[in-house]
Amino acid sequence: MSRKKIIAGNWKMFKTLSEAELLVAEINNKLLQNLASAEVWIAPPALYLPTLTSQFSGSEIQFGAQDISKHQQGAYTGEISAMMLQSVMAKFTLVGHSERRQYHHEDDVLIGAKIHAALSQSITPVYCCGETLQERNSNNHFVIVEQQITTALANCSAEQVQQIVIAYEPVWAIGTGVTASAEQAQEMHAFIRSILAQKYGASIADTIRILYGGSVKPNNASELFSQPDIDGGLIGGASLVAADFIAIIESAI
Ligand code: 13P
Repeated sequence: MSRKKIIAGNWKMFKTLSEAELLVAEINNKLLQNLASAEVWIAPPALYLPTLTSQFSGSEIQFGAQDISKHQQGAYTGEISAMMLQSVMAKFTLVGHSERRQYHHEDDVLIGAKIHAALSQSITPVYCCGETLQERNSNNHFVIVEQQITTALANCSAEQVQQIVIAYEPVWAIGTGVTASAEQAQEMHAFIRSILAQKYGASIADTIRILYGGSVKPNNASELFSQPDIDGGLIGGASLVAADFIAIIESAI
């Protein structure tokens, strides 16, 4: 099964609007290569989405959000709904990023509800999961990731799960400069695919794209992306530097 790779940038809480426009323009100008074999996704701060999606509407780049509300609409101050994201042409949203879990106490039941909110407006959820250093050191990483996935996807049909992208992001590798080795990442990705196969069947599991995130840089990207179950990356710090992000995209095509 050949799955088209995704290189996704998660900008987190960085850049002003004018810096964001400049960075996307720089990336867009350098995307001269034929992107037939990879997709480029960017999740800027949500308030820049209307500007970026209209300014770069002809570009290969797809824009999405870093988070989404589980609610459709209502008195939820500060929240952004799926319908709102849809109305500004967002194509995807991250859900369950470890920083949301850590600083906003999100759990997999809530994250599962966010997945359904996104799907209700045909926005692709990028479901983020991954263990902490302590969980890995105590050899619980497979158990933890399995629990995360089975809880968050508990109410997803086979048809829905095919519309989801999964991002494995070991917490100990995020922003630390310590990346999982290609073997560690491949081992976990294969494990995640085996969980999906048990639940939804091998042919569906084979179509689901599983991205790796955590200190992906130009110098380690190609080794990671050449693993059979790694279908691209979710890039934090290096997605904020045009030359680095482009180099990472190039290592996937
Ligand atoms: P870094 O690439 O900065 O480690 O961040 C990874 C990440 O959190 C992407 O969502």
